[in-house]
Amino acid sequence: MAAEAIMSTYSRMSVAFERGDGSWLYDTDGNKYLDALCGIAVCGLGHTHPAVTQAIHDQASKVIHTSNLYTIPNQQQLAERLVQISGMDNVFFGNSGAEANEAAIKLARRYGHSVKNIDNPTIIVMENAFHGRTMATLSATGNRSAQAGFEPLVSGFVRAPYDDIDAVKTIAANNPNVVAILVEPIQGESGIQIPAPDYLNQLREICDQHQWLLMLDEVQSGNGRSGKYFAYQHNGILPDVVTTAKGLGNGVPIGACLARGAAAQVLIAGTHGSTYGGNPLSCAAALAVVNTIMDENLCERAAELGAKIAAGFADKIGHADYVKEIRHKGLLIAIELNEAGTELAVLAKVKGILLNITGGGKVVRLLPPLTMTNDEADLLVNTLSQIIRIYAADERNNKEHKRRSQERREK
Ligand SMILES: Cc1ncc(COP(=O)(O)O)c(C=O)c1O
Repeated sequence: MAAEAIMSTYSRMSVAFERGDGSWLYDTDGNKYLDALCGIAVCGLGHTHPAVTQAIHDQASKVIHTSNLYTIPNQQQLAERLVQISGMDNVFFGNSGAEANEAAIKLARRYGHSVKNIDNPTIIVMENAFHGRTMATLSATGNRSAQAGFEPLVSGFVRAPYDDIDAVKTIAANNPNVVAILVEPIQGESGIQIPAPDYLNQLREICDQHQWLLMLDEVQSGNGRSGKYFAYQHNGILPDVVTTAKGLGNGVPIGACLARGAAAQVLIAGTHGSTYGGNPLSCAAALAVVNTIMDENLCERAAELGAKIAAGFADKIGHADYVKEIRHKGLLIAIELNEAGTELAVLAKVKGILLNITGGGKVVRLLPPLTMTNDEADLLVNTLSQIIRIYAADERNNKEHKRRSQERREK
C-alpha cells in the first residue's frame, strides 16, 4: 500500500485498527487499546454499539440514500427528537461539524441582510476557537497556524478573547454591523477551556439587548458529553442557533444546525442545501444514537463518570509539580501540564491508551465514551497517571543530564 497515494494532511501514528468493541480498539497485530479519545469525541457510545450497528444494518438493507428532493421520514423523526431535546424549532442537516457551522454562518448573514438590514453582517468569534476547516469556518477559527497560507480569509468576523464579557461589550459599543456571536460553550481543540459559569448567560443578555443571534458550536460538547445533552443546558438558557456533529452519528457522518425563533425562519427553500445531508442511512444511525443517549440516561452517566475520572487523576497526580491543572465538564477532560508533553500520546499508545494532546502541546485531552464502565475508568486513571509520572521523570532526568553536560563543557 503506497502511503504517498494519500495527501499528507495528517501526521499519523503507525497503528491501524481493524476492530472495535465498546471502549476498546484492536489493531492489526491483535493488540488492544482503551479508547479515551473516541475518534475525537465521535464514538460517544463506544465502538460497534449494538443499537447503532443494528440501525445501520436495517437501514442499509432498505435504502441508503434518496435525496432531499423527497421526503425522508427518519430525517423528520430525527429532527423532531432533536427539537424536543434542545428547545429549538427546526434543523438543517449536513455531514460534518464544519458544514453545520457553515450553515450557521450563512444563516447569520441572511439574518443580517433580511431582518436587520445590514449590508456587511459581522459575527463575533473568539480567540483560540475551532469551528472547522472550510474557508468560512477556518476564517471563524481563532488559530493563526491553521489559517496560514489560505489567505484571503472570508471577511465578516471580529474576534474577542474567550470568556471575556467586557471585550464583547466593547465590540457592541463600536461595531454596528454585528449580527451574531459564534462561540463554543467549552473550547475543545484549544485544550478543554471551560469559561466562567455565567459566561453564556451574559452572552445571552448581550445578544438580547442588540437582537444578535447567540450561536453555539456544540460540535464537540454536544450529544451528552458535557453531562447534559447540550452544554448550554447547564446554564438554563436557549441559544438562537446550535450546531452539532461528531457524537451525533457515532461515526456515521452527520452534522446538524438547529435554530429557534426568528433564526429558524431565515433559511428558506433554495437558500441552502446538501446532497447527502440527513440521508436515510445517517439519520437511522443518529436516531439510534440519540434514543440510546436519552433512554439510557447517558448524559447523567457522562457527568458522573467525568467527575469520577477527574477526581481519580486529582488524587493520583493532581499535586505533582508537572501538572498545572486538571479540569473537566462531564467527559471533556483535560490534564494540563506545565511543559509540553507532545510525546505522551505516543507513549500512552505503546501502553495501550488512546488520547490526544492539544492546547499548544501541554494539554492531555481525554474524551472517553459515555458508555465506559467504572472498571475501565479506573484502569484509565491508574495506567495514565503512571504513564504521565514516568514521562515527567524521564523529562526531568533528560533536562538534568543536559544541564550537567553543559556544565562540564563550560568548565
Ligand atoms: C467545536 C468544533 N467545531 C467544529 C469542528 C469541525 O468539525 P468537522 O471536523 O466534523 O468538520 C470541530 C472539530 O474538531 C470542533 O471541535
